[in-house]
Amino acid sequence: MHEAAAPAGERRAVDTTDPIFLRACRGEMVERTPVWIMRQAGRYLPEYRAIRERHEFLTCCRTPELACEITLQPVRRLGVDAAILFSDILVPLPGMGVAVRFEPGPRLARTVRSAEDVAGLRVPDAREHTGYVLEAVRLIRQELPGDVPLIGFAGAPFTMAAYLVEGGGSRAFTALRAMLYREPATLHRLLRVCADTVASYLREQVLAGAQAVMLFDTWAGLLSPRDVREFVVPYARRVLGAVRPARGTAGAAVATVYYAGESAGWIEACREIDADVIGVDWRLTLDVARARLGPGPVLQGNLDPAVLLGGPEQIRARTREVLHAARVGAGSATGGFSGHVFNLGHGILPETPPEHARLVVDTVREFTGGSA
Ligand code: CP3
Repeated sequence: MHEAAAPAGERRAVDTTDPIFLRACRGEMVERTPVWIMRQAGRYLPEYRAIRERHEFLTCCRTPELACEITLQPVRRLGVDAAILFSDILVPLPGMGVAVRFEPGPRLARTVRSAEDVAGLRVPDAREHTGYVLEAVRLIRQELPGDVPLIGFAGAPFTMAAYLVEGGGSRAFTALRAMLYREPATLHRLLRVCADTVASYLREQVLAGAQAVMLFDTWAGLLSPRDVREFVVPYARRVLGAVRPARGTAGAAVATVYYAGESAGWIEACREIDADVIGVDWRLTLDVARARLGPGPVLQGNLDPAVLLGGPEQIRARTREVLHAARVGAGSATGGFSGHVFNLGHGILPETPPEHARLVVDTVREFTGGSA
């Protein structure tokens, strides 16, 4: 520990041995902008496809050694500042009483649409039903270098409910949106079950060693600002509130990240979720997101994943634009960066050349002062 440069009168002790990603999530001034990539483990990597030739997707999720190996693949290849657990947001569903298959899109054994359907769900014991995930977390923590923290994750309650109501993915999520207006009380009950499930699942991930947790709210962008405040915000807030007091293996506080897709219409509402970090998709520039959110939360994002399908010059130019937008209105004292974790605006596309993902990571290092 040593004293970091800080304004006179508020010298803060900063532990620079703490991973840069975690320090940035806490809003601390850091020596460069940390970077990782949503869905960084997956089909765009030939080494992932090689494992998938021999094992089903769910087998990979349920076998700690395979989940560990797949989690580490992008850390080795890209040199990212954080690892994310290899799993899926639908992994807790069987414990709730709903079986899932991937073909490759998710298919649930039944839909949950009535009060009776909701009453038939359980809030599973995370250790009993998803012990293999917790075992994977412990294994990954043993294998990861000390400067690369592990992000655990879960689906946010609204997005979990979206899959349970529809029984899988959907183009328009009509059954879900009909339920919201026809049976709002039933949807609220379902959201409570999802929130309790996800809260205990994430708490166990933290106790097993996850140093940050991320809630994926992929489908929250379907809703109007008014409905986001009723059906999205309170449940995501409740989950993070329940997870925050959990202490990891080193007794450290966990960093919390909330990501929603297509949140440009209501991003101000994210403040009420009380996450340390708010993920922003590419439909909003980070300077505008900052102006609307105020100085508090750290922003994560937000290069359009399709940029990585273009050429190297384009990739470098667009990466620099994101870095620049992140500094407008944020802490950017000489020699330091704060308020930003670089990422894509959504998951990396399966068609992405892996060397383009590496180029993004190297460009962020180069332009924010660290060595590539
Ligand atoms: O980020 C990572 O590297 C960790 C792995 C991860 C996966 N899914 C692996 C996966 C994470 C964080 C997820 C989250 C997830 N899963 C989300 C939220 C993130 C987002 O993109 O908004 C959602 C909506 C799901 C549900 C899901 N899982 C779908 C719709 C599909 C099929 C479509 C697709 O992308 O293939 C999956 C399958 C899935 N999850 C795959 C992977 C690598 C592909 C399975 C395969 O190998 O065939």
